[in-house]
Amino acid sequence: AYRAALLRFDDQGTPIHDEDGLLVIGPGADGTPLIRAAGSYAALCGNFPGVAVEHLPGRLLAPGFLDLHVHFPQLDVIGSPAEGLLPWLEQYTFPHESRFSEELHAGEMAEVFLDELLRHGVTTALCFASSHVPSVDALMAAARRRRLRLIAGKVLQDRHSPDGVRDDTEQSLVDTEALIGRWHGQGRLGYAITPRFAPSCSEAQLRGAGELAARHAGVWVQSHVAENRDEILWARELFPAARSYLAIYDDFGLLRERAVYAHCIHFDDEDRALMRDRGAAAAVCPTSNLFLGSGFFDYEGADRIGMPYGLASDVGGGTSFSPFHTMLAAYYVGREGQTKPGLSLPPAQLWWQHTAGAARALGLEGVVGNLRPGCEADFLVLDPSATPLLARRTAHARTLDELLFAMIVLGDDRVVERVCVSGAFLQSSPPAGEPTR
Ligand code: GUN
Ligand code: FE
Repeated sequence: AYRAALLRFDDQGTPIHDEDGLLVIGPGADGTPLIRAAGSYAALCGNFPGVAVEHLPGRLLAPGFLDLHVHFPQLDVIGSPAEGLLPWLEQYTFPHESRFSEELHAGEMAEVFLDELLRHGVTTALCFASSHVPSVDALMAAARRRRLRLIAGKVLQDRHSPDGVRDDTEQSLVDTEALIGRWHGQGRLGYAITPRFAPSCSEAQLRGAGELAARHAGVWVQSHVAENRDEILWARELFPAARSYLAIYDDFGLLRERAVYAHCIHFDDEDRALMRDRGAAAAVCPTSNLFLGSGFFDYEGADRIGMPYGLASDVGGGTSFSPFHTMLAAYYVGREGQTKPGLSLPPAQLWWQHTAGAARALGLEGVVGNLRPGCEADFLVLDPSATPLLARRTAHARTLDELLFAMIVLGDDRVVERVCVSGAFLQSSPPAGEPTR
């Protein structure tokens, strides 16, 4: 058990701040470390006689962050200057991703990638691997060794893609089904069927992906949609019969529960309603959208229609793994086109979008993303005085909003003092000596 301030959320997404709180961890029915209790110290301390309590004065315990959209093979693409999405893919992304056919490279990069996620306090991620099977095997194996809740998939891209990343229609579907069998539901791992985006997939590949999505209902689906104007024109040209870019995916059975679509910027209300009605969710990627000049996610439109969403880094289009940077960028984006008075996105709401709200969008509400009994024991020890400026700023924060905003604006990985994954605090490096697979 840990005694410190707690940040958690109720079912409505309202933050609860226990200034002197207690978090109790214990094994669930199958031995999985779970949160057994979270609340005020005074109310709970009598309920757990004999349980050792570690006191962490001045610290804030918070749920581990979720990243709803991040590209494992794009670590070394961050900050690549290009004129927009399509040139960026051709000039930087595809050449880098082509290297992930090599098992050794993929294995080394998987450790670096997971180190980065965890150092920034991200304990659950929905990841694109590359189009190569070894990239998925390497990432899944590394995540399993660390007992991380991670969802990933092999990218499908059988056309309009250069040699080195383009896959074969039939083989890509056979490989996807084999990977589902190998990894989905292994411990905390999940698989996501991953068509890169409609322009890079033939009709046959999208149809095959949709058939797999129907046969494997518990598996996730992920792709990109309505990110960039040139991309949208291209998609419409390739699929002239579809009502909209988003509708292409619906026509192939790829909009359903557990489907997460990155960006969803240039949508109309019909698109938003289609996402909602199918039970799909948007991954909002503000640092990427600002960096690549893609546009601004319409928060008001999403809320008006009831389209679910959560936050994501979209590294390497995104500029940072840091949830603090992503939340700050989301705040800037939320100001764009804002018609309501007041704060566009209050800090606790931004935080919810990266934790409990993101878990809801993924279909994992009550499993991760919150400090509540029954949730898996993934949480962070945050130090709100981690830097000199933060210490000054948070010392005179009078409300939870002021405290959270100070961390969102001034914080980074230095705020994340310790990371607890599945009930165990991380060492700085992963257990060594195990094979990649
Ligand atoms: N659309 C297709 N592929 C990609 C990608 O790798 N990143 C982003 N941001 N958009 C894409
Ligand atoms: Fe992306």
